[in-house]
Amino acid sequence: MTSDIQAIGLDIGTSRVRCVIGEPAPDGRMNIVGVGEAESKGLRRGVVTSTEAVAESIRKAVGEAERQSGLEIESAVVNLSGEHLRGENKNGVVAVAGAEKEITDEDIERAIDSASALTLTPGWEIVSRLPQEFIVDGQDGITEPVGMNGSRLEALVHIVTSPSAARQNLVKAVTRAGIDVDQLILEPLAAAESVLTDEDKEYGCAVVNIGSEITSLMIFGRGAVQHTAVFPFGGMLFTKDLATGLRVSIPEANKIKHNWGCVATFLLDHEEREEVIEIVPFGRAETRGLSKEILCDIMQPRAVELMQHVARETVAAKAQISGGVFLTGGGAMVRGLPEIAEQVFDAPTRVGFLEASYVGGLADEIQGPHWAVASGLALISMRNQLRDGSGNGKSSAKRVAEWLGNFRDKFR
Ligand SMILES: Nc1ncnc2c1ncn2[C@@H]1O[C@H](COP(=O)(O)OP(=O)(O)OP(=O)(O)O)[C@@H](O)[C@H]1O
Ligand SMILES: [Mg+2]
Repeated sequence: MTSDIQAIGLDIGTSRVRCVIGEPAPDGRMNIVGVGEAESKGLRRGVVTSTEAVAESIRKAVGEAERQSGLEIESAVVNLSGEHLRGENKNGVVAVAGAEKEITDEDIERAIDSASALTLTPGWEIVSRLPQEFIVDGQDGITEPVGMNGSRLEALVHIVTSPSAARQNLVKAVTRAGIDVDQLILEPLAAAESVLTDEDKEYGCAVVNIGSEITSLMIFGRGAVQHTAVFPFGGMLFTKDLATGLRVSIPEANKIKHNWGCVATFLLDHEEREEVIEIVPFGRAETRGLSKEILCDIMQPRAVELMQHVARETVAAKAQISGGVFLTGGGAMVRGLPEIAEQVFDAPTRVGFLEASYVGGLADEIQGPHWAVASGLALISMRNQLRDGSGNGKSSAKRVAEWLGNFRDKFR
């Protein structure tokens, strides 16, 4: 280890727990030095239902990453998920005081506080406050208002709320595994951190993280989060369809999906359509044949239906996603899903891989959309620590930019 900074991302999912340990590289990227993965138990649709079972899965994943890196982990940046997360856009206005009427940090805090003055359902809380832009005396599109002159400051903020118990039980499970929670980050925000560039966020794009039982959508535009939505379905739905349709067990259905599953018939050439695979019916020892075309016929309508649900949300949000759709999460690995999503969304679509300019080291070990959240969390952990440890001898413009970065982190 050449750095004091340990960047640690812990992705606690319904089917897998993943841990990524990184350290800052001299070229500005994050060198991956350890990764760990374990089967997850004790969650339902991204929410903890048994803290001890989740703690045990965390210990396994973290232990593996520790052994690989030779490091001991004390704290981590962790994902926050769950079907109840709700996002909404709010605005808050404050008057700027003082002789020069120069906008200060406190004015921004006040404006954001004013935007977050919601009437919450009992038992709910704000889990994320993401500033979108500021408007100073009617001029919009301002991202860094500190030091500007003006008398009226308006903040546009994307606010995400969730039941408090979901966060409390998650923190309890992580703490029980002997790890402190540095920060909780919304799952799709973490995925976006590792696959999107600043340009993607600027032009407008959608991240669709397809997990096992949860799919989350986050829409970016003008460099900020514009919309968040969570759907109570994921890759497990294909497994259940196959188990029912083919009369096979859940593990067998999962194996069929992983090895031969495809959701776009047009990707199969004549030969592949005719190809027959051997499957084991439930409770039987002998196998039976299944053509790949029939397998595809079972999966395709479900893929279209799921993507239509998500696409309808982007339409309802009046989102501009000309920068494309990025599919992350293990569910994005189903063959043909990007092609189906591209048709349904009517926008360029691809599987979101780790942005090469962000990571090095053991990056090859985590090349896949299922690692997007864990590596995004580690990147956030590294960037936070680099920012916290800097500040001396910098130009004032740079300090303001860093401060605003810190400020944004504070409200993630
Ligand atoms: N190669 C593959 N082909 C098809 N599906 C896959 C593949 N690999 C993983 N999956 C599916 O991805 C899903 C798990 O994705 P992921 O690991 O992102 O979920 P999770 O984070 O554990 O769950 P959640 O985010 O819902 O809490 C499972 O349904 C799994 O079957
Ligand atoms: Mg997940």
